[in-house]
Amino acid sequence: MSANVSPTGSQPTSTYDSAFLKACRREPVPHTPVWFMRQAGRSLPEYRKVREGIGMLDSCMRPDLVTEITLQPVRRHQVDAAIYFSDIVVPLKAIGIDLDIKPGVGPVVEQPVRTRADLERLRDLTPEDVPYVTEAIGMLTRELGPTPLIGFAGAPFTLASYLVEGGPSRTYENAKAMMYGDPELWADLLDRLAEITAAFLKVQIEAGASAVQLFDSWAGALAPADYRRSVLSASAKVFDAVAGYGVPRIHFGVGTGELLGLMGEAGADVVGVDWRVPLDEAVRRVGPGKALQGNLDPTVLFAGREAVEAKAQEVLDSAAGLEGHIFNLGHGVMPSTDPDALTRLVEYVHTASAR
Ligand code: CP3
Repeated sequence: MSANVSPTGSQPTSTYDSAFLKACRREPVPHTPVWFMRQAGRSLPEYRKVREGIGMLDSCMRPDLVTEITLQPVRRHQVDAAIYFSDIVVPLKAIGIDLDIKPGVGPVVEQPVRTRADLERLRDLTPEDVPYVTEAIGMLTRELGPTPLIGFAGAPFTLASYLVEGGPSRTYENAKAMMYGDPELWADLLDRLAEITAAFLKVQIEAGASAVQLFDSWAGALAPADYRRSVLSASAKVFDAVAGYGVPRIHFGVGTGELLGLMGEAGADVVGVDWRVPLDEAVRRVGPGKALQGNLDPTVLFAGREAVEAKAQEVLDSAAGLEGHIFNLGHGVMPSTDPDALTRLVEYVHTASAR
């Protein structure tokens, strides 16, 4: 049977017919699809084992390791989609920015980007800069069968926050100082990052990714007027650049309740929602014509099974009127999460939402 023939049973025989991609397209689904941001990673003992003694960025450049780590949560939890194992700073490293991911800290940039001269260091990204991405995605799509693979990248604002601050920040004071104080330099920086990000997503889609997610994790630090004035057009440029492929584009950030409409407007097909806004309210803010993804509070998984199921049911109930819903957490899986609680949650969502 060819990969594009429709299935007769409940198990899809093609990626196109998977519950995840159907939900992204707002088509009827046999059950609500579920995957978790950061589903691969420290919550899994098998991940900690294969990562032993290998730095985070080094592991992102090894196709065998990327393939194994990406598949681990699919095998264990039966999630409806895999997410390519990488990090948002990988394309920046690939074009020669001197940065590292420090355990327990996050991305740290040796020489922060603060001046126009610093911009020169942000050269274009070509597929030759990331051969391991193309290779790993080729291996993954063969291994995954009908399970879709989600590619991803960091959005211009979130990448700029690391580049300008030089590392993680709670206040983004340097990034915002540039945004407010030198809007021209800021716009050029975000435009440069949009081009790099678009090129990186294209590599992933051309290698076989079935959907892409743009992580603007820290955009929630911005007032809507500033987001519209100083950020939206750069993210829109990324979404526009990959629109022609016809793969669903997901747009996610944390604390973005006030930005949901604008994040949809930037060009997403699916808008990710954190746990602070219920989905029935989120859909009013996002407007028609887009699916939603979310939004269980990741800390709920530390409560007992009954509490997890009650809160998961609340999410499903608040999504009852949506055209397309992809169940996820409101942010990434926390490293100390019991992986069995995640497996049970997948089972619960599949059973409770079966139609
Ligand atoms: O399975 C998946 O979800 C894919 C894996 C993934 C990673 N990073 C792996 C990773 C994804 C989607 C990311 C994206 C990412 N990286 C984001 C956006 C998502 C979000 O959480 O909002 C951000 C902001 C980053 C930057 C970053 N990289 C942080 C804040 C950290 C955590 C630092 C720490 O050690 O706590 C990283 C490192 C990182 N990226 C790890 C993993 C598994 C931990 C490193 C390790 O396991 O040694």
